[in-house]
Amino acid sequence: MITTMVDLAVDLAALEHNYRQLRRRSDPQVKMLAVVKADAYGHGLLPVARKLAAAGVDYFGVGSLEEGLMLRQAGITLPVLLLLGILPEEADRAVGADLEVALFRQDVAQALSAAAANQGKKARVHLKVDTGMGRLGVLPQEVLPFLAGLKKLRHLQVMGLISHLAVADQADKTYTHKQVQAFTSLVTAAREEGWKLPLSHIANSAALWELPEAHMGLVRPGLMLYGSPPSPDRPPPVALQPVMSLSARVLQMKRLPPGSSISYGCTYTTPDWCDLAVLPVGYCNGYSRLGSNRGEVLIHGRRAPIRGRVCMNLTMVEVTGIPGVKEGDRAVFLGRDQGEVLSAEELAGWAQTISYEIYCALGTANLRRYTGV
Ligand SMILES: Cc1ncc(COP(=O)(O)O)c(C=O)c1O
Repeated sequence: MITTMVDLAVDLAALEHNYRQLRRRSDPQVKMLAVVKADAYGHGLLPVARKLAAAGVDYFGVGSLEEGLMLRQAGITLPVLLLLGILPEEADRAVGADLEVALFRQDVAQALSAAAANQGKKARVHLKVDTGMGRLGVLPQEVLPFLAGLKKLRHLQVMGLISHLAVADQADKTYTHKQVQAFTSLVTAAREEGWKLPLSHIANSAALWELPEAHMGLVRPGLMLYGSPPSPDRPPPVALQPVMSLSARVLQMKRLPPGSSISYGCTYTTPDWCDLAVLPVGYCNGYSRLGSNRGEVLIHGRRAPIRGRVCMNLTMVEVTGIPGVKEGDRAVFLGRDQGEVLSAEELAGWAQTISYEIYCALGTANLRRYTGV
């Protein structure tokens, strides 16, 4: 029995299961970079990285220099790629910790080369190309001139090109095919200019799942490792297990007469007698206020609708018709209860967002408990 009011559990055995399922989706020689940025999508950078390192992952991708340094301080020696690149003033620390850098600025290239020269090392970079994401990266026509600008920087080692897919999760792959084609032609063009580029990569979870031609030398899944399909409407052909779950104990039970208002704004009035459970989870726990009068939780394996507004620390659900609910019982906000499941995708629907945001919000707002370590 969990004794805390709120329980955010991260199942590392499920994470390992998902990792092994995903490994089977690409050829054995294709490396896998686990995207563990944003505190491993809210699941906790170090426990997740330790589990995946032990399971045999090849690379990690993080968001910031700080996350990269945390991995090193935890004794993780696998290659780590800083997916957002660095600021020039971070070059010394990045090189000092042997962190690889997504590169898209010449001033950062110079800073890295200078830092590497000082430390008697080579700085490893992956040239970030914007093939259609419209986010970080140099444009396709800038790739060869950018590489030419790196030639004099002797302490840089260009590992490869990296790009990111904008709509790989959609069933229509027309745009994605264009991105992949543009990317592979750039790799070829750069190789023709003498760049070896041992490790170029573009495949996120969706491309790992559905686009073998995009796997190249390395795939970079994030979301599917954490148990969610990239497209909620098309379940992937691998059996993923949810890694994160959130539950709370019923704090108070009450029976309200017809005509009673519930929560701030009096947005819900009971049409009849109502058995109400007050639960100690609110938006401070990363649970979206958009769940007000819309979301559900699971109690005794049954769905209980949220009544009224989600508050900072509390949410009220109606349990009329669910027999025997009492104070101290467990209410599941995310996860499984007997035969019923509330997935991150379903929560995302209520909150008008995506499962990625659900994981980041819940995982970083609550104390995490690890199982399957
Ligand atoms: C550069 C990059 N590569 C790979 C990923 C992983 O994407 P997904 O979680 O959809 O697998 C991300 C995530 O946003 C990313 O930013």
